[in-house]
Amino acid sequence: MEHNLWTRERLLEFCETRLGGCKFIVVANREPYIHRHGPTGIECVTPASGMATALHPVLAATGGTWIAHGGGDADRETVDAHNRLQVPPENPQYTLRRVWLTEEQEQGFYYGMANEGLWPLCHITFNRPVFRPEDWEHYREVNELFADAVIEEAGDGAAIVFIQDYHFALLPRILKQRGHGKLIIAQFWHIPWPNKEVFRAFPWGEELLDGMLGNDLLGFHVRLHCQNFRDTVDRVIEARVNQDLSLITRGGADTLIRPFPISIDFAAHERDSQSPEVEAAMERWRERLHLDGRKLGLGIERLDYTKGIPSRLQAIDYFLAKHPEWRGKVLFVQIAAPSRSSLPSYQMEEAAVDALYEEINAKWGTPGAPAIILLKQHHGPADMMALHRLCDVLLVNALHDGMNLVAKEFAASRCDEHGVLLLSRFTGAWRELGEALSFNPFAIHEIADALRMALEMDEAEQRRRMRRMREHIRFNNVYRWAGKILTALLRFDLPEFDYESNDASALD
Ligand code: G6P
Repeated sequence: MEHNLWTRERLLEFCETRLGGCKFIVVANREPYIHRHGPTGIECVTPASGMATALHPVLAATGGTWIAHGGGDADRETVDAHNRLQVPPENPQYTLRRVWLTEEQEQGFYYGMANEGLWPLCHITFNRPVFRPEDWEHYREVNELFADAVIEEAGDGAAIVFIQDYHFALLPRILKQRGHGKLIIAQFWHIPWPNKEVFRAFPWGEELLDGMLGNDLLGFHVRLHCQNFRDTVDRVIEARVNQDLSLITRGGADTLIRPFPISIDFAAHERDSQSPEVEAAMERWRERLHLDGRKLGLGIERLDYTKGIPSRLQAIDYFLAKHPEWRGKVLFVQIAAPSRSSLPSYQMEEAAVDALYEEINAKWGTPGAPAIILLKQHHGPADMMALHRLCDVLLVNALHDGMNLVAKEFAASRCDEHGVLLLSRFTGAWRELGEALSFNPFAIHEIADALRMALEMDEAEQRRRMRRMREHIRFNNVYRWAGKILTALLRFDLPEFDYESNDASALD
């Protein structure tokens, strides 16, 4: 297996030898580095985004340009005359090109269409999507703006344009229509794709699908979402859908649909999680948490209704009510990074989390020893790795998640092979990490039962499970994800290619 391992070096070599001078342009709404005015001057921060975490090492290895919305209030002050800067600022490895949006555009495109429309539509967590014609207008307009930036960055030469996520469904078609001729266009949809019945609710379905069929290659995390997409196209729009080859033909042009489960830079994460900086952070957390022999349960996510934080708190309540012997013997820490907080659906989620947090601590906590600690702040990587290493159980009970990289990061941090992962069956990660304890995230009693099993699991069993998960992620790392996508792009016109195979070795 070792000789097949994708590493940063292998990806770099692949790009140098196989991409033959082709530019590599990534388009993603969220930027990897945000500049903000802080109390001591301009600060540079990294966002809480699984997508950004995964893409950064790929860009760092391959070089190229990342085109993103410049959303920080000091972003304009930190670019050159072409709206570019080299990142990471302390050790430049690739170019960040910022695109500016007006407040109305950000409101309509990002908050409105992307996050109040497409996000709930695709996740199916029983949050009603909102579809406003004016948001769709802004969405179109912003997709055009990003197309301008791509064309500018590509120049006259050949380029691979790798588009990320649900913010840019129209961009592939717009790029094809601009007639550049030397662009290979791929898109990765980081969130689930709903079934065709749910998609019927989207008012501009034909236009959206036509946009996505401008891609040469379209990737989802899992086969089910590829299947849902093919079925949706089959139902909604004029196109030939070849289910066997997973190939859709519209207007004479082909789009390959393929599963690529995303991952993390396992080697870097493993190394960083053992660093002196993380050891120091662990010491700070120990002082702050006063564990005094209590076990530690942990949740880390953005404060988003797809993550199921209220269900987790209810499950903790149910567990403590049912198992009095565990009262006072376990502490739960919930990191909930603020996200999209101007939207009513996110404000309601926060209010629900706050209310449950108060209620459960009043019931099961004692002065000086709460049952739950809720931290509604963004934490840096060292703090999160320290918590991974300190906890006994990581709870991931997302109601629906394309992948969930927190689960993979947790395992990568655990060189000691201790700790148990609780993983919702409605995450992409569940399909890979069979050694996690799994449950239906809508059934509070199932989460509580899994929690009990985790807290009572013996060391040998923890080790066995953790070791297998770590091996899986080490091999199926983010370089492999990127390598497979780029390999598929180079071969996209080979009809005999085994598209359906999710067997990673097919592309080695
Ligand atoms: C999900 C999406 C990403 C997004 C991230 C954070 O992981 O797939 O595209 O960047 O959420 O959300 P935000 O809206 O803050 O970028």
